[in-house]
Amino acid sequence: MQDTTTPATIKVWDPLIRIFHWLLAAAFFTAYLSAEESQTIHTLAGYLISGLIVGRLLWGFIGTPHARFKDFIVGPGQVMRYGKSLLQRRSPRYLGHNPAGAVMIVLLLLSLTIVACSGMITLGIEEHAGPLAGWVQSMGWHDDDVAEEIHEFFANFTLLLVFVHISGVIIESLLHRDNLIKAMITGRKRPQS
Ligand code: HEM
Repeated sequence: MQDTTTPATIKVWDPLIRIFHWLLAAAFFTAYLSAEESQTIHTLAGYLISGLIVGRLLWGFIGTPHARFKDFIVGPGQVMRYGKSLLQRRSPRYLGHNPAGAVMIVLLLLSLTIVACSGMITLGIEEHAGPLAGWVQSMGWHDDDVAEEIHEFFANFTLLLVFVHISGVIIESLLHRDNLIKAMITGRKRPQS
C-alpha cells in the first residue's frame, strides 16, 4: 500500500540558489572560453560572477535554511570524519550540502573571488577601466604582470576545482541513489528516511 503521509520529494534548494548556481556555471565557462576571443564578453562574464558571489555571500546569512552557511559549514574534524566514511562507502546522506561538498563550495567561491579581483586589477592597470581603476591608480601600480599571473593561475585552479566538484556530485549521487544534478534544477530531493 502506498504511504500517503511521507511526500515523495521535498523542497531543498530555493529558486535563488538554483538560478545562482546555473548562472555561475554558465558565466564561469563563458569567461574561461572567451578569455582569448573577446575582451568585452570576458569582462561582462567576470562582472556577472562578481555580482553572483556577493549575492550568494549575503544569501548565506539571510537565505532559506539549506542556503545558510551555518547549515553546511563545519569544522575540520567533521570534514575528516566524513572523508573517512566516504572512503569506506559508509558516508551518511545529507539533505543539504555534505561536509566534503561544503569544503568544495568554500574553495570555489574563494578561488572565484581571487580570479574576479585580480581580473579587475589587471583591467585597471592595463586599460584604466573597471571598478578598481581608481584604487589601482591611487596605489601607483603600473606593472600588470603579477595580477595577470594570479588571474590566470586561479582561473585554471578553479577549472580543476570544477572537475573535482562535478566528480564529487556524481559519486555522491551514485552512493546515495540520489540525482543531485536534477535536485539542483527542480530544487527537490527525496526526504531523509
Ligand atoms: C556544469 C556542470 C556542473 C554541475 C553538473 C554541477 C552540479 C552541482 C550540484 C548537483 C550541486 C549541489 C551539490 C549538493 O547537493 O550538495 C552544486 C553546487 C554548487 N556548485 Fe556546481 N555544478 C556544475 C558546475 C559548477 C561550476 C562551473 C561552478 C563554479 C564555477 C559551480 C559551483 C557550485 C557552487 C558554488 C555550489 C553550491 C551551491 C550553493 O549552495 O549556492 N558548479 N553543483
